[in-house]
Amino acid sequence: MELSWGRRYVAVEPTHFRVEYVINPFMDPDDQPDPALAMAQWRELVATIERHGGTVEALPQREDAPDMVYAMNLGLGLVREDGQSHVVMSHMRYAERRMETSSAQPWFAERGFTTSYVGRDGVGAHLEAGDAFAFGDALVVGYGPRTEELALKHLATELGIRVRGLRITHPGMYHLDLAFCPLDDRRALVCPAALDEASAAALLELVPEPIVLTEEEALTTFCANSIVLGSTVIMPACPDRVRAQLEEWGFTVVVVDVSEFHKGGGSIRCLTNPVDVEIGRDLAVVPGGEVVLPQV
Ligand code: ARG
Repeated sequence: MELSWGRRYVAVEPTHFRVEYVINPFMDPDDQPDPALAMAQWRELVATIERHGGTVEALPQREDAPDMVYAMNLGLGLVREDGQSHVVMSHMRYAERRMETSSAQPWFAERGFTTSYVGRDGVGAHLEAGDAFAFGDALVVGYGPRTEELALKHLATELGIRVRGLRITHPGMYHLDLAFCPLDDRRALVCPAALDEASAAALLELVPEPIVLTEEEALTTFCANSIVLGSTVIMPACPDRVRAQLEEWGFTVVVVDVSEFHKGGGSIRCLTNPVDVEIGRDLAVVPGGEVVLPQV
């Protein structure tokens, strides 16, 4: 069954995108993006999403926040059981990105979203939304390099859902969205090399029909950092083997080049934040919440 979420996106127009500091292995201030090319690539991505039935709402980029273009990390957008749109704002690991959410929060609030922070006003635990995806019966959350394990507990209890944690150990796949992309209710792109042994096994158990990516595929092509609109997969690149399997399953692959954004360590998923995951539809309601961690 097709994913029911992934039609409504929030993104940030890259008016001040640059590589100013190093918080992941891809970033090199000596290799700056071309601003005009980055803008053209971003516009093409937005147009492609719109052509395939999605919507994109753009918030302005703060001048002092060069990484804000990676809108996936602003917060975890959800629709509550009563239909209210809500965003659990991120609490970024690195100070260099923390100001992004103070601009994003009022922007969401003006558009009718309620907002919250995990724990006590966001000082509770680091949470970066690029680590969190609805899949199966739970919110699957990567922790380690960015999101802290404690944030999983907060998410589960505050939202009343099941959270399945996966421990990320690979420095180059510092967000789960670089190693995991849900395709439909049974299928996903997965790169177990991002995770410790128990978590890799848990991920493979969670996904009945995975396309397993090698470490090399995930790191050099960013192909797990893709988005899915129904049967269309919008990808930054697609290895032939992966394309063959996707097409066999009935998906159409659309490649959009966002190479300028790879210089900051992110690709298509990082640039777009789906806010239409519904509690009670895409995420099972679990009163009181529950955290499931891989058995070591
Ligand atoms: N430079 C950004 C950072 O390191 C890239 C974020 C990529 N976004 C993502 N959702 N993986 O925080």
